[in-house]
Amino acid sequence: KQRLVVVGSGSTYTMGMMMSLIAEKDRFPLKEVVFYDTDEQRQERNAKATEILFKERYSELESFSYTTDKKEAFENVDFVFVQIRTGGLAMREQDEQIALRHGVVGQETCGPGGMAYGLRSIKDMIELVNDVRRFSPNAWILNYTNPAAIVAEALNREFPKDDRLLNICDMPIAIMISYAKILGIDVWDIVPEYFGLNHFGWFTKIYDKEGNDLTERLKERIIDTGFSPEDEAIANDISWQKTFDQARQMLIDFPEFLPNTYLQYYLYPEAMVEKEDPNHTRARQVIEGRQKHVHDLCERIIDKGTAREEELHVDVHGVFMVKAAESLAYNLGERFIVLVENNGVIPNLPANAMVEVPALLTSSGPKPFSVGEIPTFYKGLIEGQLAYEQQVVDAYFETSYQKLVQALTLNRTVISATKAKEIVDDLIVANEKYWPRF
Ligand code: G6P
Ligand code: MN
Repeated sequence: KQRLVVVGSGSTYTMGMMMSLIAEKDRFPLKEVVFYDTDEQRQERNAKATEILFKERYSELESFSYTTDKKEAFENVDFVFVQIRTGGLAMREQDEQIALRHGVVGQETCGPGGMAYGLRSIKDMIELVNDVRRFSPNAWILNYTNPAAIVAEALNREFPKDDRLLNICDMPIAIMISYAKILGIDVWDIVPEYFGLNHFGWFTKIYDKEGNDLTERLKERIIDTGFSPEDEAIANDISWQKTFDQARQMLIDFPEFLPNTYLQYYLYPEAMVEKEDPNHTRARQVIEGRQKHVHDLCERIIDKGTAREEELHVDVHGVFMVKAAESLAYNLGERFIVLVENNGVIPNLPANAMVEVPALLTSSGPKPFSVGEIPTFYKGLIEGQLAYEQQVVDAYFETSYQKLVQALTLNRTVISATKAKEIVDDLIVANEKYWPRF
């Protein structure tokens, strides 16, 4: 039985993740769950509601606690799930708005917003990994923190020998849920082939467990009737709906492989800018939507002393995280799309690139499948994006203003060096409390 710590437990995703722990409790039995967050107040609301939830639905659990003390949290821990957001949603809104003010994609992980967020996340993530390692040298650290590409690159440089640190993103599985609905099969029966960087990749093949190739049928269905994802979180969210609608257009324009939805920010940047309202970006929608919902939900559970009257949904991104942990803990060797160092997996990309590919998760870490050489179009796109990501991390470690401007100049959402410099200057002011001094 495992001792699990959730870092960033004040997150709006925490309740959904706790439902996933409950859903998976037979396959991934826990002895103890600990919440850790730097923001005591945010954490407390989630924690008090979770305490009630666990009493009602997770009686096998021996202990649940929450703390802001590192030693208390990280001593003797088996698994650490990390989902932090340095600067919170307030800074996410800044990131999105500053970019849009310059007529550039305003997004959490893509373009200038992603760079800004990356430069905030790196410092806290390095500190966190050091903190965990001080108390639990062998704990598995499963990191969800965004922007995953930049965070993974920075952590791989800072902790090159740490082989129990795994960066993962739920977007491939979120997309696969839609594929599964379209194909009428269970998402866990889909066997994907995929390559790319985080939020910058393509499904090349979709098989079922029996080995049937469903790729062409899937493409036809998407082109004919669109995505209409039935995953509740997405179906109820207009912004995600639009994202999937555009994914259909992307497939019509680039029918060779099935693109990750995030590629639309790089392939159609003007259109993505146009549909944004700078005064109501995604951060605002999350603050007024999901955050408020979770906030009210927790307050009600705490007030009533029970969660029985609430409609609680198992969160897919949580289930994905738990299933990945399960596979690592029990050496199940199940296939997940994760971030690993390339090392020849894609031979015509640099060996040190952090790539997103399918891998078997075993107790000695991820075992990626060889992808083989990728065609010029994808290689070109990836190399540009990879250079940008590595340049951001270089800029961080060298505190180089020059390199920041170069990084944004490399990014497809920016390109203009004049704009890159203007945006960097604005971001430096906005991120004064979080960034190193450039
Ligand atoms: C997906 C991505 C995450 C991203 C999230 C944003 O799950 O994989 O990297 O953070 O979407 O969702 P939101 O609802 O906060 O805009
Ligand atoms: Mn992601």
